[in-house]
Formats: sequence, structure tokens, C-alpha cells
Amino acid sequence: MNEVSDVRDWLRASPRVIALTGAGMSAESGIPTFRGLDGLWRNYNPQDLATPEAFERNPTVVWEWYDWRRGLIAAAEPNPGHYALAQLEATNHVSIISQNVDGLHTRAGSTHVIEIHGSIWRTRCTSCDRTQSNLKPHLTTLPPLCEDCGQLLRPGVVWFGENLPPMAWEASVEAVSTADILLVIGTSGIVYPAAQLVPIAKDAGAKVVEINLEATALSSQVDATLLGPSGQILPKLVQ
Ligand code: OAD
Repeated sequence: MNEVSDVRDWLRASPRVIALTGAGMSAESGIPTFRGLDGLWRNYNPQDLATPEAFERNPTVVWEWYDWRRGLIAAAEPNPGHYALAQLEATNHVSIISQNVDGLHTRAGSTHVIEIHGSIWRTRCTSCDRTQSNLKPHLTTLPPLCEDCGQLLRPGVVWFGENLPPMAWEASVEAVSTADILLVIGTSGIVYPAAQLVPIAKDAGAKVVEINLEATALSSQVDATLLGPSGQILPKLVQ
């Protein structure tokens, strides 16, 4: 059985496609994933960098880490996997639910992107809540302060222990509940509630296809797993 060609047939018969993407989606753009041998969480402790408590303890250290990642991401380009998902919009209704904060789906041309873990290119004031877009690879002063009220800005991302933005979560549940097919791409599937979108899609009747270098926590729930780099598999699927 040639699974890539089977999934290509499923896609042709699926008007509504949802892609749930994780860090592996951007790995071929040179952006490190979180887990695995070269993962960020091998060298950095998420409790020191990606929690509200860490930010309260030392906002400068947290900002330095995000500023370093902004530089990495600014220097990266979308890869053929990102472009393939953007290209799929020519034939299917496609929405992307991304756990990635890098903005590469939008840079590749995808138009319906829900960023459930926020965006590294946004800042939010810890006092007046003003949210702003800031696309500079590096911020001028760390930690940055709000232009309106002078208080501390924080990265516009979701940290461990925080709720997802309610509207983004509701839109994601709605999207997977009406999907014909859900592509689960480059995620270890162990961070919730994002991973919960897979059983929600399945229960609502969608076919679920995983694309990953290896089997994951979600593999037992999916209809097919395509093993390999998403930057190679996705272009084959949308040919
Ligand atoms: P992980 O680092 O947990 O998982 C990355 C997944 O991508 C793994 O399953 C890899 O096998 C796979 N992978 C790596 N390279 C790939 C490639 N070229 N093609 C296909 N698959 C590849 O990243 P996430 O699942 O995104 O949250 O992690 C979820 C959340 O945990 C992140 O959003 C972040 C993190 O801590 C927060 O910071 C709140």
C-alpha cells in the first residue's frame, strides 16, 4: 500500500482540511523543536523560561531567551511543507491550527491560521493589556516597557500553566469538529489542550493523518501515519 497516494486521494475527497502543526513543521527551516535530541528543553528548563512564575522572578532572563529565538526565527524561511499547505488553499478549504509562535505559515501565504500558543511577534502589557505587533528581530531594550503606561511588556505567547486564548480555542474546536480530514504535523502530541483536538476531530467523524519523523503519543488514534520529514511529505501530498 502506498500511503502517500492513499492520503492524496483522501485529500481530494475532503473539501475541509485542518492542519494541526507543531515544532517539527518548522524544523526544516532550522528552528529547533522542544523535545527530542536537539530539542530546546534538553538545554533549557521550561520552568525557568516559559511560565508566569519565571517571568515574575526574572523578566530580563525570560526576555533574553525570547529575543534570542526572535533572531533565529527572523533569519529563517518557510520550508516546502509550509508552502505546500499554503498551496493546498487553491483546491481545498484549509485552516491551520498552529502551536508554533514563529509566524511561518502566514509568511508562506496561508490565510487561515489560528495561533493557539500565541505569537513571538506580539507583545502584551502586563498592566494595561495592550497587545501590539513588533516584527523587529531584536528588541532595543530588555525587558521592554509599554509605550502607553510604562509598565512591563511580556511576550505574546502562552506559557505553561496558562489558559489558551479562549477565542482561539473555540475556533479550533469548531474547525476540527467540521473537518473532513485533520493533518497532525510535527507535534509530539503531549501538550494539552492542543492534543485534545485529535480525539475531538475523530469523534466528529474526520479522518486523521499524522505526519512525523516517528510514532507519537497520538499515533494510536489516527487513521494513518506518514513517517518522514513534513517538508518532503507535504509537497508530495498536494502535488
Ligand atoms: P515537540 O518538540 O514536543 O515535538 C516535535 C515533533 O516534531 C516530534 O514529534 C518530532 O518527531 C517531530 N519532528 C521533528 N522534525 C520533524 C520534521 N522535519 N518533520 C516532521 N516531524 C518532525 O514540539 P510540539 O509538539 O510543537 O509550548 O510541542 C508542543 C508545545 O510544547 C509547544 O508549542 C511548546 C512546547 O513546550 C509552549 O511553549 C507552551
